[in-house]
Order: sequence, then structure tokens, then C-alpha cells
Amino acid sequence: MPTPRIYLAPMEGVTTFVYRNAHAAVYGPLDKYFTPFLEPHEKRSMKTKERNEVLPEHNQGLDLVPQILTNHAEGFLELAETLQDMGYGELNLNLGCPSKTVVTRGKGSGFLASPGELDRFFDRVYKGLPGEMKLSVKTRIGMEADEEFAELLAIYNRYPLEELIIHPRLQKDYYKNSPRREAFRYALRESKAPLCYNGDLFTEKQIAEFEAEFPQEECLMLGRGVILNPGLPTVLRGEADGREESVRREKFREFHQRVVDGYRALDIGERNVLFKVKELWFYQIHLFEHAEKYGKKIKKAQNLETYQECVRELLSCCRIAPPGSLGK
Ligand SMILES: Cc1cc2nc3c(=O)[nH]c(=O)nc-3n(C[C@H](O)[C@H](O)[C@H](O)COP(=O)(O)O)c2cc1C
Repeated sequence: MPTPRIYLAPMEGVTTFVYRNAHAAVYGPLDKYFTPFLEPHEKRSMKTKERNEVLPEHNQGLDLVPQILTNHAEGFLELAETLQDMGYGELNLNLGCPSKTVVTRGKGSGFLASPGELDRFFDRVYKGLPGEMKLSVKTRIGMEADEEFAELLAIYNRYPLEELIIHPRLQKDYYKNSPRREAFRYALRESKAPLCYNGDLFTEKQIAEFEAEFPQEECLMLGRGVILNPGLPTVLRGEADGREESVRREKFREFHQRVVDGYRALDIGERNVLFKVKELWFYQIHLFEHAEKYGKKIKKAQNLETYQECVRELLSCCRIAPPGSLGK
């Protein structure tokens, strides 16, 4: 079976440009990257954090697609113009975010509750978008019920979407329950846009099972699976050193250090650096065998020096779990 195309999922606060660069440098670039969502602002200017995500010099050599969260066509088009001036040729619309604060403003997966408005949004956006600018969508399958998806997909089919990335959960699922694979199967039959699957692919085994179930699907977006195991794409690409424990641990060490150094270079203060790097251990700790006690120490570290010491200890005492043994 051919290696699927692999995209890194946008994850607010996690797959930042620091993370993306460190990952690409150590594990090799993935096929596409997406920024955590950007929002149009009244004054048109981006927040520093948002600008940092899209600055071309922060994303050298990466195929990056800026993601936008809005239900306002004019705001979308204004931001699209700014991003086009920065050299971007594709944008992604976020129709998946399930968080209450976003949904109650009718954005993210909250926009899926108003198919008529969504249709008008696309109509206005496609009329105003420069011809050469491509638009892709990352979507859930509805708010409350599986039945909502057919109408939503019919809307997507009316427009020349570059790509439709489907996380087949409902808004009400948040990240609970299993992805609703039947909806994805339906999209494979009915979607005019090329599809990319996203959701709960954490291990090589789960990906192999997915590919056996959907042999025609050649594009996967991975989020938590990569954060948990940054070497997962290497293993999927069948690179021999992806399997060697000592090599994997060395690569992780280098990757981790690049992330720490990348945040330190931002001048955001030690506390913020510490917060950013600790956040990753919520996932990463599961990569290591018998690492709970080290995980607790990392969480408790009050400054970067102690933190780095705890990570060094973990990396010298805990082995990386074999590829086949990683569970959720
Ligand atoms: C902490 C966190 C932040 C996220 N931020 C975004 C975001 O900014 N934009 C987006 O489209 N999805 C976001 N997501 C959803 C992921 O892109 C992805 O759809 C989800 O994690 C399911 O994929 P996975 O099972 O491979 O992790 C976020 C998810 C998490 C856990």
C-alpha cells in the first residue's frame, strides 16, 4: 500500500511555528501544515502571536496553510488579502472547533447549525476571493445528529473546494465517542472535493486498520498521535531508523531541545516557555515506558533548569515504548 500523504493538524497552542520547525528539522517535513486558527480583527492587523505563525521567515521550507475561524465573509476576504500579500496561495476554513465560546458565536462547528448562512458565506467568499487563491475546509459532520451531514456536504459540493478535511465527529461529541466512520464513508462516495481524514489515529496499528478499511483514502491529518509520538510519521514512511529504540530516543531528545530553544528565542519570559513545553507532556509522556513518576516531576518543575533536569532524567531512565505497544 502506498504511504499516505500526512498533514499535521492545527492545534491551538501546540502545533505552533516553533513546534512545526522543530518537528520538520528532526523527523523530516510532512506534506502539509496548518496554522492554529487565526481570526479576522476589526483593525485588520494581526495579533503578534498570529503574525508569528504566518511570517514566511518562520515557515521556511514548510507547505503551510493558514487557517481562519470566522462566519463573516468580508472579514475572511480582508484577511485573505493580507495573507495573499504574504505569499500564501491556500487558506483553510475552520468548521470544526467545538468549544462553547466559539460555537455560541456561530463559528467553528457552530457555523454548521446554519447551513443557509454557510452557503451564503461560501458564495460571497468565492465571488471575492482572488482567482488563484485556493480554499480548503476542515469540518465536523454536524452539531447534534449524523443526519445533518448530507445537507452540509451538498453545500460543500457546490463550491470548488481544494480539499475537504473531515473530522467525523459532531460538535456535541467534543473529543468523546469514536469518530463516526460511516459519515466518512458517505463522504468518500459523495464528495466532489478530494478528502482528507482526521481523527483518533494515534498508532501505526490504528492507521494500518484505517487503511485496510478505507484503501482508497490517501490523505491523513494527524494531531494528537504526532504530539504523543513525534516519530509516528517516520514509522509510517517505513524509515528503518524509525524502529530502533536508541535512535528514536536520540531523535526525541534533539526534537525536544529544539522546541525548548525555539520558545526561549521568542523572548516571552521563562514562565511562558515553561508553560508551553510542559503542555506537550500531557501527550508525550505516553511515549515512554514506566514514566509516570517523571511526568509528575516535570509537571511540578518551577523553572526551566529544573524542568530540563527532569527531562534529562526521564530520557536516561525510560525507554520509548515499541511502536506496536502504544495505546491511546
Ligand atoms: C489542544 C487542541 C487544539 C486544537 N486547535 C485546533 C485549531 O486551532 N484548529 C482546528 O481546526 N482544530 C484544532 N484542534 C483539532 C485538531 O486539529 C484535530 O482535529 C483533533 O485533535 C482530532 O485529530 P487527532 O485525533 O488526530 O488529534 C485542536 C485540538 C486540540 C486537542
